This record gives sequence, structure tokens and C-alpha cells, in this order.
Amino acid sequence: MTDHSQPSKSASLYDRAQRVLPGGVSRNTVLRDPHPLYAASATGCRITDVEGVERIDFSNNMASLLHGHCHEEVVSAVTRQLSRGSAWTLATEIEIEFAEHLASRNAGFEKMRFVNSGTEAVMGALKAARAFTGRAKIAKVEGAYHGLYDYAEVSQTAGPSTWGSLDHPQSVPVAHGTPPKLLSDVVVIPFNDSDRAVALLDEHADELACVLLDVMPHRVGLRPADADFVEAIRDWTKANGALLVLDEVITFRSEYGGAQSWYDIKPDITALGKAIGGGFPVGAIAGRAEVMDVMNPRAENLLFPHSGTFSANPVTLTAGLSALRLFDQDAVNRINAMATRARTEVSASIEAAGVRACVTGGGSIFRVHLKETPPTNYREAYLSPEESRKLKILLDYLFDEGLIMINTCTAVFSTAMEEADVDHLVAALTSGLKRL
Ligand SMILES: Cc1ncc(COP(=O)(O)O)c(C=O)c1O
Repeated sequence: MTDHSQPSKSASLYDRAQRVLPGGVSRNTVLRDPHPLYAASATGCRITDVEGVERIDFSNNMASLLHGHCHEEVVSAVTRQLSRGSAWTLATEIEIEFAEHLASRNAGFEKMRFVNSGTEAVMGALKAARAFTGRAKIAKVEGAYHGLYDYAEVSQTAGPSTWGSLDHPQSVPVAHGTPPKLLSDVVVIPFNDSDRAVALLDEHADELACVLLDVMPHRVGLRPADADFVEAIRDWTKANGALLVLDEVITFRSEYGGAQSWYDIKPDITALGKAIGGGFPVGAIAGRAEVMDVMNPRAENLLFPHSGTFSANPVTLTAGLSALRLFDQDAVNRINAMATRARTEVSASIEAAGVRACVTGGGSIFRVHLKETPPTNYREAYLSPEESRKLKILLDYLFDEGLIMINTCTAVFSTAMEEADVDHLVAALTSGLKRL
């Protein structure tokens, strides 16, 4: 139990942090009231904070850790690499090996480029789509989070007063000062609504470079897209000379070759990140060779010059390759089964207790909503002030019960977890929901 009445080491650290970091943090996701907790160390699925309190980590650094913390094989591979060097202006064998491994997991990853974040991967994917098609516009799902790139973030924070009609969702900027001209180059479509989405795409048919799609967008409700929606978007892009860009920055961990294997489609480009870095900052743009070759500097006409000081960093790729090799089909099945059991048991306790809540998710992730029925799009997933207030109470309760969740009340599983950790999560969620 956290004793909020005593001044803590975290509280003093936060005092210092506020003087030098905006809001006292480097990423808004770690902010909590009255102050963030500061990590001291972590191993397996447990993190210890500077107060010495240990918690089970169901956030896994925002879904980026497949094996929890400090997996022995990852640590020793990285340590070996560090003693040989951490960054060189020379090509490395590890980038070939890593690319070969990713290609062996998904036949659609014919060629790829490595970058340092999911934001950069999405940005690179959109620029590649523009370079390949010679078109400027992109389409994206309302509310979907794809990182910080101006175009990709449009509408991510839209609310009832700004989002407009469902037939024509507004392109709502996130950052103040976003160039208004850019907004007209982003077509916002509703999630899981093929008819409305296709009608909107049709209005810009000759101008769209691509549709950017996450098949299980976290902020849109963490519900896997219906197959007919994904297929309708794929068919539309093919028929209209546009590309399909899948954002699998989170969802790649859902299946051996990514969540795209849930559907009978093949994207032109996939943006990857998070889990493929083995705990280090990473991103990748992977796709059809013909499309990826817009980045080929040996081409007669280089359409998209692409570079980055730390791209394909050997430490990152060593960690990533070692983590992915450990994430074989059995490991994927094991954590997906744990998440399925948690989803089923939490849903059953919600029903038995008659609480206003529901569960969504797929693969190794699930999200609890304080809503009667699972939301089908961003507008339905949007939190009312009352839901936000109660969600915060629930998250604080879970925290005090020794569980770290993603702050939407989302849990992410890792191979470092045991069935007893799942039991603990289900029990704490059940009692937390009943108390609301
Ligand atoms: C679906 C999705 N795309 C892109 C990103 C951006 O990745 P990064 O935070 O590594 O820039 C995120 C991050 O949460 C994400 O969830």
C-alpha cells in the first residue's frame, strides 16, 4: 500500500524535475497525481520504485517489452555488443541479420529500413507512400494514435466540440500552430464503418497517397477491426492507385508475423516499432520491394532520400533480434493465451457483479472500459468526465494493489509472467471494479 501522507523520494525528485523538464516529465505517460513514481530497478515482470515498492508491470513500457525486464539472453547479447562499440559510420552485419529475421516472420516484409521510434517509422512510411504515388494526401482513422508526425497525429485529440459530423469528420490539429494547409491533406475516416470510410476516400480518390491504418487502435477502443472494414480499405486502395500503410507499432506483438495475419490482406508498407527493439528505441519501415525502393540511393532517380545518425543502431538491433528470436510461435501463443484468459475472466466478473464496464483487446493486450458495451469507434470510446474520474480511481487502486497498467486501464502481457500474475490482475480488477 502506498502511503501518500509521507514525503517520498519520488516527491523530492519530482520537485527537482519540475525545474528542468516541462511538467517535470519527458513523456506525459509517466505523469501521475500527485507526482510520478521513479523507477529504481526491474527484473522479469516486476519493477521496484525508489521507495522500494515492487509492482507487477502490466504496462511493459507501453507494450514495447515482450519478455519483461532484463531477460538474461538480451542483457548478455547487448553487453557483448556494447563492448565492441555502440554506433559506427560503417554498415553492420546485424542489420542484415535483423532484416532477414523480420522477413522470415512476414513474407510481405520484402525490404526494410530501420529508424529509432514508431513516430519515425510512421513518418517514413507516409513519405514513402507519397514518393511512390506522387500524391500528397493521406487518410487516417479518427482518434488513432500514430506518434508525433504532424500529418499522422491529426484528429488524435478531437473531441465532441471539434470532431464534426460522422459523415465528414474534421481534420483537427493536435499541436497549436499546426499549419492549417496541412489539415486539408489529411482525410479523417471513422473506424470500422466501411460505407462512410469509402465514401470519404472517394471524395479524394485521385489525391490520396495512402490510407494509414492500425487494425487494433488503442485510443479508438483497442478493438480488432472487422475483416470487412480492413478488406474494404485494401480493395479501395488497390482500385484507386493508393497504398495501404499498416501501423503495427503496437500490434506486431499480437501474432508471429503481426496482427495483419488476422486478415486476408497484404499491406504495401508496415510501420514497426516498440517490441522489435528488445527494450531499446526502435522503428522500422517494411514493405513491398518496389515501394521500399523509393529509398534506394542507387536508383537512377532517388525519390525519397532517407537517413538517420542512429538508424539501424547495432545495440538496438542486437537487443531486438535476441528478443524476437525468443518470441517464437510458442511464446506468442503463451502470452496470447494468458491475455485471453484474463479477458474472459474479467468479463465474467463484470457480468456477475453487474458493474458498468466491458473489455476489449486482442493478442496479448486488453483494455477495460467503464462503458456498458464495447466501443466500436473513437467517438464511442471517448471518455466522459465521469468515466475519466472513475478510471483514475480504478488505476490508483490497482497501483496500490501492486499493478502497473497503461493509463487507459490497458494491460499488456509478457513472457516473464506466470499464471499467478494473471490471477492477481483478475482479482484486483474484479475488486477494483466492484468498489467503483
Ligand atoms: C500505434 C502507434 N504508432 C506509433 C507510435 C509512436 O511510437 P513511438 O512512441 O516509438 O514514437 C505509437 C506509440 O505509442 C503507437 O502506439
